[in-house]
Amino acid sequence: MVGYAFMGAAHSQAWRTVNRVFDLPTRARMSLVCGRDAGKVADAADRLGWDAYTTDWRDLVASDDIDVVDVCTPGDSHAEIALAALAAGKHVLCEKPLANTISEARAMAAAAVTAQAAGVRSMCGFNYRRVPAVAMMRQLVADGRLGVIRHVRATYLQDWIVDPQFPLVWRLQRDRAGSGALGDIGAHIIDLTQYVTGQRITGVSAITETFVKERPLPAGSSGLAATVDGAAPTVDGADGHRPATGLVTVDDAAVFVARLDGGALATYEASRFATGRKNALRVEINGSLGTVAFDLERLNELEFYDATRPAAEQGFTRILVTEGEHPYMSAWWPPGHLIGYEHSFTHQARDFIEAVATGVDPAPSFVDGLQVQLVLDAVTRSAELGSSWTEVEPALATVAA
Ligand SMILES: NC(=O)c1ccc[n+]([C@@H]2O[C@H](COP(=O)([O-])OP(=O)(O)OC[C@H]3O[C@@H](n4cnc5c(N)ncnc54)[C@H](O)[C@@H]3O)[C@@H](O)[C@H]2O)c1
Repeated sequence: MVGYAFMGAAHSQAWRTVNRVFDLPTRARMSLVCGRDAGKVADAADRLGWDAYTTDWRDLVASDDIDVVDVCTPGDSHAEIALAALAAGKHVLCEKPLANTISEARAMAAAAVTAQAAGVRSMCGFNYRRVPAVAMMRQLVADGRLGVIRHVRATYLQDWIVDPQFPLVWRLQRDRAGSGALGDIGAHIIDLTQYVTGQRITGVSAITETFVKERPLPAGSSGLAATVDGAAPTVDGADGHRPATGLVTVDDAAVFVARLDGGALATYEASRFATGRKNALRVEINGSLGTVAFDLERLNELEFYDATRPAAEQGFTRILVTEGEHPYMSAWWPPGHLIGYEHSFTHQARDFIEAVATGVDPAPSFVDGLQVQLVLDAVTRSAELGSSWTEVEPALATVAA
C-alpha cells in the first residue's frame, strides 16, 4: 500500500478485517507499506499492521512477493504508480478520482485493458458502491421496481474549509488534486448515480465557485485536518504581520445539471462550504413506479416508495438494510445490529480479493474511473464557458481511440 494517512488507515482496517469476516478463496497479507518519511512510515506500519515499510513505492512494484498494489496517495501520483504496477503484473486498487487529468486517466484505463488480457486486475476505489443500502438501491433499479427513471438528485456536502483561515492543503491545489469539491466528493456522486441507475451521463451544464481564494500555508495535513505553518515567513500587509498565504487553485463548490443516456434528468451539488453538513452524501431517484432515497449519514437505511401498492397503503417505507438477505450483511451481525463507514472499505477489499482470486474483472474498473473523469472534465470546461452545454463521450470509445 502506498500512503498511510486517511485512506491508508481506512484501507488498512479493511485489509486487516476482511480475512476474518468473509469466507475468501485467498487471504490478504499486509506485506509492505510505503511513505516518504522513514520515521512516520515505520510508525504507521506498526500501528496499521503492515509487516514492513519502505520510503520508495518502486520497492512494492519491484518485489516478487507482492501481488496487489493499493494506491492511497493524492491524485498527482496515481498514474505513475498504477502504470508501473500494472506493467510489473501487479493487480491494482487505486483510490478515486482515478487521476488528475483526462490524459492520465486514459493512459491508466488503456493500461488496465491491456493488463486484463494477461489476467492482471484493476479497480478504482469508489467505496460507496459497497454500502449495503446503495447496493440494494441498484438491485431495486435493476429489478425494475422503479420503472423508468425520470430524475436523479445527488448532493455531497461538507463544511471543513468554511473557515477562511483553514490552511492551503493539497486538496486545495490543482496540481496535486486535479480539482476541488468537484473531483474529491463530486466524483463519488457521479460514480454512485451512474452505478445505481446503470445510466451514463451524456452532457452537463455547470457552475463552480472558489469562495476563499487565498489561504495560510499549512504545516502538515492528514485527511481533512491540517495545521497552519506557524514557522512560515510572515508578510507585511496594511493590517500588520500575517502568515504567508497561497492561492487556492480549485473549486470550493460545483453545481451542475446533466442528462443520462436512459432519458433521466439529473442535478448534482458538491460543496465544502455547506455549513453544518459534515459528510452529507444524499441521492434520490424518482422513477415511473417508485422512488428510492439514500443518506450516507444514515447509511443503514433506505427509503423506498412503491407506487404500485394500493393507493391507501402508499407511503415511504424505511428499510433497515441489516438483514442477512441484504448485500454483504450475512457476514456481519444479527439483523438490526448496525454497520458504519469503514465497512464499505472492507466490502471493497472483499470484492477485490474475490475478483483477483477467481479471475474476473472487478468493478468499478479503470474505464469506469475514466468515465467519471470525463464528467469532471466536462463540468470544468462547461463552467469555464459560462455553463455552456458540454457533451461527455463514452469512456471505452476514448480508450480505443
Ligand atoms: N474513497 C473515499 O471515500 C476517499 C476519501 C478520502 C480520500 N480519498 C482519496 O484517497 C487519496 C488519498 O487521500 P487521503 O485523504 O488519504 O490523503 P492524506 O493526505 O490523508 O494521505 C495521503 C498519503 O499519501 C502519502 N503520499 C503522498 N505522495 C506520496 C508519494 N509520492 N509516495 C508515497 N506516499 C505519498 C502521504 O504521505 C500520505 O500518507 C486521494 O486520491 C483521495 O481523493 C478517497
